Amino acid sequence: MNDPRVAQSSFPRISAETLHAYVRAIWEQAGSSPREAELVADHLLAASLTGHDSHGVSMIPRYVASVGDNELKLNLHAKVVRDAGAVLTIDGVKGFGQVIAYEAMELGIERAKRLGICAVGLHGAHHIGRIGHWAEQCARAGLVSFHFVNVAGDPLVAPFGGTDRRIGTNPFCAAYPRSGRPPLVLDFATSAVAFGKVRVAYNQGKQVPPGALIDNAGRPSLEPKVMIEPPVGSLLPFGGHKGFGLASMCEIFGGALSGGFTSHADTLGTNHAIINCMLSVIIDPAAFDAPNAEAEADAFIEWVKASPLASGTERILEPGEAERLTRADRETHGVPVDPTSWQQICAAALAVGMPAEQIERWATHLQ
Ligand SMILES: NC(=O)c1ccc[n+]([C@@H]2O[C@H](COP(=O)([O-])OP(=O)(O)OC[C@H]3O[C@@H](n4cnc5c(N)ncnc54)[C@H](O)[C@@H]3O)[C@@H](O)[C@H]2O)c1
Repeated sequence: MNDPRVAQSSFPRISAETLHAYVRAIWEQAGSSPREAELVADHLLAASLTGHDSHGVSMIPRYVASVGDNELKLNLHAKVVRDAGAVLTIDGVKGFGQVIAYEAMELGIERAKRLGICAVGLHGAHHIGRIGHWAEQCARAGLVSFHFVNVAGDPLVAPFGGTDRRIGTNPFCAAYPRSGRPPLVLDFATSAVAFGKVRVAYNQGKQVPPGALIDNAGRPSLEPKVMIEPPVGSLLPFGGHKGFGLASMCEIFGGALSGGFTSHADTLGTNHAIINCMLSVIIDPAAFDAPNAEAEADAFIEWVKASPLASGTERILEPGEAERLTRADRETHGVPVDPTSWQQICAAALAVGMPAEQIERWATHLQ
């Protein structure tokens, strides 16, 4: 399979159940209610299981630092600030994104089931992590969804033709549910590579693929250090002007239309934490006069998968399939955690007051 994430399997592994329990224990120790700790553990573990390690349990140290800085507030809930029927505006009140986005989707799902469609504008949530998780929540309820997200006031990506950071890594996500089978889930950052993957390359002394980075002077670079060591450069959007265009619409739909804010001179550095805003459009497919929709979708997927394979390709993957394959591997063999991330997670556990002996007991499960 042509998925580079599988290459990480040489790291020590821990069972999904044990890692989930450890993450839940860390957040309960930090002061989260049992429900909040459970939702955060569900999300972080699911991201790690799907292979998106940059958005999984390795985020714990960053979140603990945000709690310490009083940027991330525990035990808060999504607050509806305007209810216009099929359009909801929700304030994320800088609460735990993993709780706020879950609650925002629950509200949107209920409306979409009742009215056929609901647009949810969520602003000001602390980092909402892997966006596919929210699309999967909608898909479990039998609903189609698409999501435009901005990383408000935290630009890392240069515009097409520009040479400095002006845009967030703004993810786009869309999902299509199918009866009796997993949904199709498209979910990616609009930067050529996610920042977390650049950080991993830096830690491992590796280069990044061509077309992903420019240095501070706007020159193309393969060296991840240009994003870490000052004077810092920028990520590039994926797909040239097309990725730049999609990233811009994520900024405007996600950041502006949701009642939140976009990245510009007045909003730079207004927060240390990662703040996400998201426009989610949730649709009940049964509301269309389209009895053949699922059969047509199936026929299309079957058609594209039957294409003769390019050399070096084992199979053609439908949207979401790479994540499912990684999840199947990790559910069976455990979740690989690199030693640096494990050490940082344990340091975070200590920082929230978990006794050292307890942390050592969790560590014995890593093999
Ligand atoms: N909350 C935030 O602020 C934020 C910001 C940026 C990214 N993210 C998240 O980071 C995660 C990682 O993003 P990314 O850009 O690194 O994702 P990526 O480059 O791994 O792309 C993932 C998408 O491509 C599909 N895919 C992967 N390999 C494929 C193949 N060989 N053939 C066909 N399709 C394939 C996957 O099914 C998935 O839909 C996403 O979950 C995103 O939501 C979050």
